[in-house]
Amino acid sequence: MKTISIRRPDDWHLHLRDGAVLAGVVGDSSRHFGRAIIMPNLVPPVVTTQDAKAYRDRILAAVPADHRFEPLMTLYLTEQTNADDVEEGKRSGLITAVKLYPAGATTNSHGGVRDLDKVMPVLERMARIGLTLCVHGEVTTPEVDIFDREAVFIEEKLDLIRRRLPELRVTMEHVTTKEGIDYILAADRNLAGSITTHHLIINRNDILVGGIRPHYFCLPVAKREHHRQALRKAATSGDQRFFLGTDSAPHVDPLKECACGCAGIYTSINTMSCLAHVFEEENALDRLEAFASLNGPAWYGLPANEETIVLEKQPDPIVYPAKIDTDAGPITVFDPKFPLHWAVR
Ligand code: DOR
Ligand code: ZN
Repeated sequence: MKTISIRRPDDWHLHLRDGAVLAGVVGDSSRHFGRAIIMPNLVPPVVTTQDAKAYRDRILAAVPADHRFEPLMTLYLTEQTNADDVEEGKRSGLITAVKLYPAGATTNSHGGVRDLDKVMPVLERMARIGLTLCVHGEVTTPEVDIFDREAVFIEEKLDLIRRRLPELRVTMEHVTTKEGIDYILAADRNLAGSITTHHLIINRNDILVGGIRPHYFCLPVAKREHHRQALRKAATSGDQRFFLGTDSAPHVDPLKECACGCAGIYTSINTMSCLAHVFEEENALDRLEAFASLNGPAWYGLPANEETIVLEKQPDPIVYPAKIDTDAGPITVFDPKFPLHWAVR
C-alpha cells in the first residue's frame, strides 16, 4: 500500500460558524488539522479583540476532547475598526490577521468596507506592526460580471492598496483565476495566496451543466477550466507563496437548496483525501506537504506542526458521508465526483 507521511496540515481559511453548526463541524477540521485561520463573518461579525476572544473560547469549548486544535483568530475590518484595538489584539497574540470583505461581496459581508480610504489608517498601522491583511478579492460593482470580479479587484483595488502600502503583508484568499496567480507570482514580497480544495477540482461547468448544482456554488465562483489548471500548477509547484485555505463554508441544506441559495462548499471532512488525489494526479505528492503543512506557517511566521499524519492509498474507495447531521440541520459534503482512495491515518 502506498503511504506518505507529512507534517500535520493547517487550514489557512476556515468558516466554523457558531452554535449548533460550530458544534457539528469543528471536529471535522480538528481531526486532521492542527490550526486554522477562523473567518469572522458571523452574525454579528467578529469586529473587536474582545469579540474574537469570546469566539475563540466558544470554538475551544466545541473541539472534541481528544483533538488538539488551535484556532487562529481574525478581525472583520469595518470602517469603524479601531487601530489601537487591532494592535492590542496582535500584541496579545490573539489576532493572526484582519479580514477585508468588500461590502456585499459574500455571506454576511454587508458590514464590510465600502470606501478603502476610510480604512487606510488601520491598514497603515497593520503595515507598521506586521499584521497580515486577508483579502476577499472581488469587486462588488453591479456592472462587473461575476466571473470577472477577482481580476477587476486586483487591477482596481488590490494593486492600489499595495502601491500605497508596500510594507503591508497581504494574503489573497481563495485565488480562483490565472490573473490572481500571475499577480502573486509577479510580487517579490509581502503577497501570498491561499487556494481552496474545491477550486482545484471543479470549474464553472460543474455548477451549471445539466442543472443548477447549489452544492458547487461558492464565492468567488469557480471559473473556466484554464483557471483551474493555473491553480493546480501553482498549488503543486511547491512555491512558498501558495498554501491551503479550504474556505470550507457550511450552510445547512435548506439555505442552499432554494430559490436564492447561499455560497459555500463544505470540504473539511474530506479535504485531505481530495488533495492527495489531486497531487497524485499532478505527479506532485512530494509537494503536498509544502502546500498543506509548510508554506502557510512560514508565511504567517509560525513553526510547522511537530506532529505528522500518514496518508494511505487504499484499494477500496473511502466512503465519506454525503451529508453530516448537525442540530441545525444537514450539511452536504463536497462531492469531488471521483472515488477517494487516500485515507488519513
Ligand atoms: O463561498 C463562500 N462562502 N465564500 C465566502 O467568501 C464566504 C463563505 C461563507 O461564509 O459562506
Ligand atoms: Zn471564506
